[in-house]
Amino acid sequence: MELPSWASYAAAWLATLALVFLSRHQLRRRSQVHLPPGPKPWPIIGNLNLIGQLPHRSIHALSQKYGPIMHLRFGSFPVVVGSSVEMAKAILKTYDVTFASRPKIAAGKYTAYNHSNITWSPYGPYWRQARRMCLMELFSTKRLESYEYIRKEETNALLRGLYESSNKLVTLKDHLSTVSLNVISRMVLGKKYTDESEDSIVSPEEFKKMLDELFLLSGVLNIGDSMPWIDFLDLQGYIKRMKALNKKFDRFLEHVLDEHIERRKGVKGHAANDMVDVLLQLAEDPTLDVKLQRHGIKAFTQDLIAGGTESSAVTVEWAISELLRKPEIFNKATEELDRVIGRERWVEENDIVNLPYIEAIIKETMRLHPVAPMLVPRLSREDCKIGGYDILKGTRVLVNVWTIGRDPAIWENPDEFFPERFIGKAIDVKGHDFELLPFGAGRRMCPGYSLGLKVIQTSLANLLHGFTWKLPGDMKKEDLDMEEIFGLSTPRKIPLVTVVEPRLPPHVYSP
Ligand code: HEM
Repeated sequence: MELPSWASYAAAWLATLALVFLSRHQLRRRSQVHLPPGPKPWPIIGNLNLIGQLPHRSIHALSQKYGPIMHLRFGSFPVVVGSSVEMAKAILKTYDVTFASRPKIAAGKYTAYNHSNITWSPYGPYWRQARRMCLMELFSTKRLESYEYIRKEETNALLRGLYESSNKLVTLKDHLSTVSLNVISRMVLGKKYTDESEDSIVSPEEFKKMLDELFLLSGVLNIGDSMPWIDFLDLQGYIKRMKALNKKFDRFLEHVLDEHIERRKGVKGHAANDMVDVLLQLAEDPTLDVKLQRHGIKAFTQDLIAGGTESSAVTVEWAISELLRKPEIFNKATEELDRVIGRERWVEENDIVNLPYIEAIIKETMRLHPVAPMLVPRLSREDCKIGGYDILKGTRVLVNVWTIGRDPAIWENPDEFFPERFIGKAIDVKGHDFELLPFGAGRRMCPGYSLGLKVIQTSLANLLHGFTWKLPGDMKKEDLDMEEIFGLSTPRKIPLVTVVEPRLPPHVYSP
């Protein structure tokens, strides 16, 4: 039915008035809002022109100019960066619940089953339930203890592998990711699905490549996330890569789930052997607040494998790199190991409390090389005020722990690798001391931190205990490249290649 012309005029007038009113209201609101300082944004791109290949370093440089709380624009999205202990505390503690969500970005959509994993799910009942599962089931002290034998067996395999490679060139990260992938696969999936001997559907090398790609794509600055209207162009090709990666992971996860479901069939009261079993059990629980579906189990499983594999390997590789540049630290560490452990056995998890210097090396590595230099982005759920500045609902929030780790107001000679700074200090990495936050803090803090720490501590302690480390050929320590690449983790740009020599009597290395 056609409207009479006077009615169309009136409707048009009303719409125009409403628009004028709304834009005036927005302008008035914007002029009343007191945003943190920051560089002037360009139309359309905002401040993206100021962000280079290593965003944490670009943002670090900007925060030196604009201060510890800074306002940026990535395309059409406001971004606030906190770069001091006070701001980290405000964001991750005082206003933790306000900033407990995550922005919906392409990585969450295409690689994590439409934000169905823990890392990318928005704040709400689904995510809260996931965290409860982590706390009560997946990472409970009892469950972690029950898997200690797995960690021990796999660490021993790493040490044997290195022993066999004595005096040859060793690409350390390959060995480290094998051990963490094996540990996490056996804990999460019940076996090493990537082991060539066990009818695997993907080779270990291919799977490690998939994990590297997942971490890279989860952290990249995808232009479409800042300028959604050009998202469909996929200018950097990242979306294409995300979709291809998801296909590979899905094939693998489908196979894992099918096998687990088959094994559980017909066995009444089947005891959970691994974390996938626990998730399948939980999915059957009628009292669960939000139903856990098949794609949710796949997303969680992928999250656990990825979170558990890459981060520990990256940290230990950085630690050995730093030590190769400072042999005196290596000597101090082996002195402690010889004194506390002796030369007749390997280091076990419960020895770590007696090895304060090893713990200090790990903290110092995490200070200078935090795996996630700006944590994982958060999203403000409502307006709030920090340090007198307004942070509006919908703002993406970053905490630059890379900058905090280099703040000369907190750390003496901040660029120097000096583990002694932690000796006798009560600074921990567990989210209570805001000067050192490698796992984040608050509600979104890493749920796998105690597992991650156990793997890092025992593998690093044993690598130092069991071997002397050298750079290949006549390479000098000054020549060792210390550049990183940026993704969701920040590994070395060039993998570390070293030569190892055994330190302990030969019988300690035999199975
Ligand atoms: C060296 C080891 C590790 C480091 C440095 C690390 C670091 C982090 C960081 C910085 C975050 C973001 C925290 C935030 O947003 O405030 C995080 C989140 C997360 N980590 Fe880890 N992580 C490690 C090991 C692990 C392990 C072993 C697992 C699981 C097996 C894991 C699973 C996760 C998950 C699922 C999240 C998302 C939490 C959420 O959004 O609620 N991580 N991790």
